[in-house]
Amino acid sequence: MNVLMVASECAPFVKTGGLADVVGALPAALKPLGVDARVMLPCYPALFPLLPQGKEVANFGDLPGGSGRLVQVKAPEDMGGITLLLLDAPQLFDRAGKPYNGPDGQDWPDNHRRFASLAQAAARICFDGLDGWKPDILHAHDWQAALAPVYLKQTGRETPKTVVTIHNIAFQGRYGPHTVAELGLRSDWFHSGGLEFWGDLSFLKAGLVHADHVTTVSPTYAREILTPQFGMGLEGVLQARTDTLTGILNGIDTDVWNPATDTALPVPYDARTLKRKALSRAALCERLNLDPAHEGPLFCVISRLTEQKGLDALAEAIPHLVQQGGQLAVLGTGEPALEEDFRRAAQENPGRVGTHIGYDEGFSHLMQGGADAILIPSRFEPCGLTQLYGLHYGTLPVVARTGGLADTVIDANAAAIAAKCATGFVFDVVTAEGIAAVLDRVFAAYDTPTQWQAMMKAAMRQPVGWQDSGAAYVSLYESLLG
Ligand code: ADP
Ligand code: GLC
Repeated sequence: MNVLMVASECAPFVKTGGLADVVGALPAALKPLGVDARVMLPCYPALFPLLPQGKEVANFGDLPGGSGRLVQVKAPEDMGGITLLLLDAPQLFDRAGKPYNGPDGQDWPDNHRRFASLAQAAARICFDGLDGWKPDILHAHDWQAALAPVYLKQTGRETPKTVVTIHNIAFQGRYGPHTVAELGLRSDWFHSGGLEFWGDLSFLKAGLVHADHVTTVSPTYAREILTPQFGMGLEGVLQARTDTLTGILNGIDTDVWNPATDTALPVPYDARTLKRKALSRAALCERLNLDPAHEGPLFCVISRLTEQKGLDALAEAIPHLVQQGGQLAVLGTGEPALEEDFRRAAQENPGRVGTHIGYDEGFSHLMQGGADAILIPSRFEPCGLTQLYGLHYGTLPVVARTGGLADTVIDANAAAIAAKCATGFVFDVVTAEGIAAVLDRVFAAYDTPTQWQAMMKAAMRQPVGWQDSGAAYVSLYESLLG
């Protein structure tokens, strides 16, 4: 079976968040199940080094953002070895800055043309294929790819089956109504049951309406987005298609994220050699100027610093965390006010709070290796990957009960502790008080080393790879193909 994945990010090449981790890992997980999945991506500067090894397999003169060519290249084995289809259109993608915004932090003004071009290129290769390879399924990830099923359906031809995966419904790709014509979309489909969202064009809504199937990245989020609290205005669209909406939990790439082989750790460890985690802790403390002799639990945060992640509430709870004897290591970047809060917390609590503002993949591994617990107080979380990395590294997740966090962490309540299956701490109210209350439970557990050790071992035993979810995607594809 051939699957064309379309996305705007793919680890390890281009990453702003978990979308990249998923798109980078899923094709390899599907391969042993008989699926040849190829990933179509914009050719950002980070991918230029791959171009010389590639082969031009298609050429388009008239995408919504002008001309572009498609270069197929197999990624090096040490970078996942997957087959990439790079949309090389320098006028759209050869830019300094990030995938969605320039160095000044502002969204690129032509993002609608950039990602509509990606989607249209994907749709256009579906009929003739590439060098004898033709997709049976087109699988579009998030709003940036969501127009692909729409462009396909507009042809009126028999097309591959289409899937849209929602990684985060908060990002919808919403543009003024004039863009409908500009992007070559059918104006008679621009209505509230189609492409239109409150007078604008919504890329994500258009995809959700026109795809054969919609998935999201955890079963709980699949239910949550049917409600006004989480659906961000699209709950009605989703309610209308509950029979073709599925939640499939993300996995993690256990080749890349494995404490027993992780080269970012000074000394690797596994469940039998947990004492070695202390060496990662020491390295982490040194890097963030934390007191290495301090004896309480060391918490970490590895996150985009945004409203979604509830870190404003965490910042307010830092005095409690410190008073109760904890230490905190923060790695993140995002909203300037939050960056400032965590910088200030480090200045005010020398040796106890350390902050690195920035994006640093290697350091994120060291944080997972060195911390005792990872804090994820999200207000909503479609899946979340850092709690899965935490479980696998024996770094106990402390999470809000929402989305994929609720689906993957087993709270240390009395029954779970007795059954030796507790893997973390789950709390309900994302406020400074709610966080302080769960921290008190963490401190109590940490003071009982046998219990803490048992939780670390249970966490590390929990299957977090792609096995089950890879199989779930394959059954979905098979059911669509009939
Ligand atoms: P989201 O996609 O909403 O940001 P996820 O938990 O799914 O949340 O994925 C976040 C990914 O980005 C993880 O791989 C995490 O380790 C990584 N990450 C987030 N912030 C940073 C950072 N500042 N430096 C390095 N990695 C980061
Ligand atoms: C989104 C979500 C996150 C999820 C990731 C990968 O960025 O915010 O919860 O883990 O996509 O699916």
